[in-house]
Amino acid sequence: MTVQETQMPVNVAPAIGSRFGNFTARVGGRLRLGLCAKFRRYGLSRDLTLFFENPVAKIPIAIRPLQSRDLASLFASNSASDSAERLEIAWRRAFVDKGARGGFVAVDSRNDLPCYVQWLFGAQDNEFIRNLGGFPALQPGQALLENAYTPPAYRGLGIMSAAMALIAERAIDFGAREVQTFVDEHNIASLKGCQRAGFYPRLLHDRTRLCFGLITRDSFGRLPDDDPRQSKKF
Ligand SMILES: CC(C)(COP(=O)(O)OP(=O)(O)OC[C@H]1O[C@@H](n2cnc3c(N)ncnc32)[C@H](O)[C@@H]1OP(=O)(O)O)[C@@H](O)C(=O)NCCC(=O)NCCS
Repeated sequence: MTVQETQMPVNVAPAIGSRFGNFTARVGGRLRLGLCAKFRRYGLSRDLTLFFENPVAKIPIAIRPLQSRDLASLFASNSASDSAERLEIAWRRAFVDKGARGGFVAVDSRNDLPCYVQWLFGAQDNEFIRNLGGFPALQPGQALLENAYTPPAYRGLGIMSAAMALIAERAIDFGAREVQTFVDEHNIASLKGCQRAGFYPRLLHDRTRLCFGLITRDSFGRLPDDDPRQSKKF
């Protein structure tokens, strides 16, 4: 498959049951927001010009662009009993449906199954990023990694950090030197994974969602150079 084909937006038509499951998970997520919900995320960055020794996962992995056939096994937890997990899957399926390009997967080299997914954007994707909301526009030379997901059966094997470090380096292909990613301040698993992939907190993103998420307000602030959170170990 050519690079062009593999980078095309993935528009698979999920089964009707799965679409309904995604819809109800997302409605449930909106209802849980209530009248006013506040969130804080760290914006973490990796400077690709600095030497960094990429971590290695506990299983052999390889990175390649996301293909439509990967989605079924990545998001197989449609049967997941855990509503938080269903919501994670619904968000990512909706992301794909919105036409997100630039997806990469890590595959388990032992059986060729995808075991991690994340999307990499550059300044050329600013229109898509603006439509998503919740991210500052990328400057030339910047990239954004978004929506990391390791299926439950593959968690705790160091796949996120190893895969994210490798996917971040793909940003060099479109001339980026700095890669950003945003993580909720309470998502310690993800913050640990990011930090082991060479990312450190540089920004704070405060988000307020009013009236079940119908109104959203975002603000971004740079962490001062002497702020201890810049080098905090999660
Ligand atoms: C966050 C996420 C991608 C981490 O993936 P991962 O491949 O398991 O990450 P790692 O193996 O590098 O582990 C990072 C940390 O995750 C924690 N962790 C989370 N779930 C775990 C599990 N089921 N088993 C073991 N460790 C787990 C561990 O504490 C680990 O830290 P440790 O090595 O100090 O114990 C994964 O938990 C996930 O997909 N979560 C749902 C979606 C999400 O939150 N995405 C991030 C959005 S910013």
